[in-house]
Amino acid sequence: MNHFELKGGELFCEGVSLADIAAAVGTPVYVYSSATLERHFQVLRDALVAEDLKGEHGGDPLIAFAVKANSNLAVLKTLARMGAGADTVSEGEIRRALAAGVPPEKIVFSGVGKTADELAFALKAGVSEINVESEPEMRLASQVARSLGLRATIAIRVNPDISAGGHAKISTGKADNKFGVSFSEAERLYANASNDAGLNPVGVTCHIGSQISDLEPMAQAFAKMRGLVERLRGEGLSVQRLDLGGGLGVPYFNQPEPPSPADYARMIAKTMDGLDIAYAFEPGRMIAANAGVLLARVLHIHERPEGRKFAVLDAAMNDLIRPAMYDAYHEIAPVKPRAGEPVVYDVVGPICETGDTFTRERALPPLESGDLVAFLSAGAYGAVMASEYNSRLLVPEVLVKGDQYAVVRPRPTYEEMMERERPAPWL
Ligand code: LLP
Repeated sequence: MNHFELKGGELFCEGVSLADIAAAVGTPVYVYSSATLERHFQVLRDALVAEDLKGEHGGDPLIAFAVKANSNLAVLKTLARMGAGADTVSEGEIRRALAAGVPPEKIVFSGVGKTADELAFALKAGVSEINVESEPEMRLASQVARSLGLRATIAIRVNPDISAGGHAKISTGKADNKFGVSFSEAERLYANASNDAGLNPVGVTCHIGSQISDLEPMAQAFAKMRGLVERLRGEGLSVQRLDLGGGLGVPYFNQPEPPSPADYARMIAKTMDGLDIAYAFEPGRMIAANAGVLLARVLHIHERPEGRKFAVLDAAMNDLIRPAMYDAYHEIAPVKPRAGEPVVYDVVGPICETGDTFTRERALPPLESGDLVAFLSAGAYGAVMASEYNSRLLVPEVLVKGDQYAVVRPRPTYEEMMERERPAPWL
């Protein structure tokens, strides 16, 4: 459920008309709903708690929002206030999480290629856990920790070698992906880590992919994770935490309805029945995707002699790259839908490459130059993946709460864009 709805023939975000935001802030612009972010977080937490999946010291499980999905500080702050932690993959993301008020003991540091500097930063900040993805990375974490007189709290990321479907570019759980180590490797590394003065192994973790619409591969992977925990404990090693990653899909409107958080929690409770462990989760998309839209304006309706109709927008692939990069589907909703028979459009951006196409041959209500359209489900992996390609200004972001809104990342000026660069001394 989300809070983008037609009211009186016009699309609103909570109590604010999207047309009002477009008039005040200009387009393209991302608009996020606080109520939707909060609701998604709450629904997931309720589902996990209802199945008695506990966190550390018998409290709620750690729900570490995957900052990569939406790293705007206002979004992170909204979630931090609800009690969310943060799953981070760089020093930048750790800094954002801390700046948004996420306590370090709720920050997980993931990622396949952490540098020594980033590890040192994370250790000094006191993050809850470093998810190590390979033996060399584990050695580096130990070295860095010892050089600081610290012990790195780590979890070993396992690659369960399970295909979760979804787009190949976002599948992470197969043995030929770069992520994590095999189960046998994990056992060896965990035992080594237990005897390493620089390391404190506390658990194991996996993340098998994103936009997963079928619980079966997840259940298989999680059952293997449970087996690993039991084998490690059988060897006398202490395993306190199990981080099951993110990956639950969201409805992108034309796709199969993904499993609900309640089904997801039930599947985990069933798979882990009787296992006493502290759970952590790293959801990104399911919290943020349907909490955001990209608002754009139709510049021209360009009709080719062959009969194709192009709706040329002021938003482009640099603002929302998912359709170009993953053939992703985003519903396109006119902000004030016109009456009349649907018309088939190719919806494109102004960038000079054919890949700058949001959709081909989509039947939409009739559009005219000047109309506003909203790309739905754009709150995750939208603004965070934006660039300035074609020297287009970085797309701004707005956060709505009830009948108020705030520009939480303004559109830069052209001067600001160019001020970041320096002349070379010989020019
Ligand atoms: N944890 C780890 C270790 C991850 O690598 C990811 C996402 C997540 C959690 C969050 O997964 P989620 O719950 O959002 O599925 N840019 C792509 C998605 C890339 C996902 C990468 N990893 C897209 O636009 O679809």
